[in-house]
Amino acid sequence: MVFPFKLLLGSLTWGDQRAKIFSGGQLLSLSLDKTSGSGFISKKEYLFGRIDMQLKLVAGNSAGTVTSYYLSSQGPTHDEIDFEFLGNLSGDPYIVHTNVFTQGKGNREQQFYLWFDPTRNCHTYSIVWTSQQIIFLVDNTPIRVFKNGESIGVPFPKNQPMKIYSSLWNADDWATRGGLVKADWTKAPFTAYYRGFNVQTCTGSCTSSVRRRRGEARESTERRVGGVVSVNIIHAEAEANQD
Ligand SMILES: *[C@@H]1O[C@H](CO)[C@@H](O)[C@H](O)[C@H]1NC(C)=O
Repeated sequence: MVFPFKLLLGSLTWGDQRAKIFSGGQLLSLSLDKTSGSGFISKKEYLFGRIDMQLKLVAGNSAGTVTSYYLSSQGPTHDEIDFEFLGNLSGDPYIVHTNVFTQGKGNREQQFYLWFDPTRNCHTYSIVWTSQQIIFLVDNTPIRVFKNGESIGVPFPKNQPMKIYSSLWNADDWATRGGLVKADWTKAPFTAYYRGFNVQTCTGSCTSSVRRRRGEARESTERRVGGVVSVNIIHAEAEANQD
């Protein structure tokens, strides 16, 4: 069951006319111009579940833009599960940036290149969150699994309900090649499209339509090299092709 955006969001969008809901509530677009970005927030909060969203990212020169789609609770010790899409110059690859915050602490980034051009069509990006693990999926293929590591002392988000957030914003101080490539405002407004927003609340197994794969998607670990978190770009293609 796919929810019309109105039902999910009420009128909880920001950025004035830059956030638009159309096609009877089935489609939503966010834009960014030099003055402001835009975004939306879900009406309800969720504790565990599966969230699916189809996105068509900013096409052409999207350098400096970040389209984010994440779950977050509130307050200084908040938990957060992030999907962020870092734009690039025309023809250069987007980076899919993932992160998990527990009790206000993140630094668990993992980044991926996709095996398709995410600006041509809608693709489904999902978060499956249970008390045991968090799975990040692209078109039903797991790209990252963050396991509950409480038994080895790694906190896991499992007590604070989260809302669903999305936004399109200017992050040209870091997003593209580490901030080297800035947004080209002559190409603004930048626009991303959303549809197929689906939330399933489930505490046990939310994984029915996850594609089976040989072995497990990489397990997440906190990789730190001399206090610096090393963010490794993982070519998801190689993995996806092994299915
Ligand atoms: C943009 O393209 C460059 C060159 O291919 C690449 O190094 C970089 O990882 C790409 N993505 C981002 C978001 O910078």
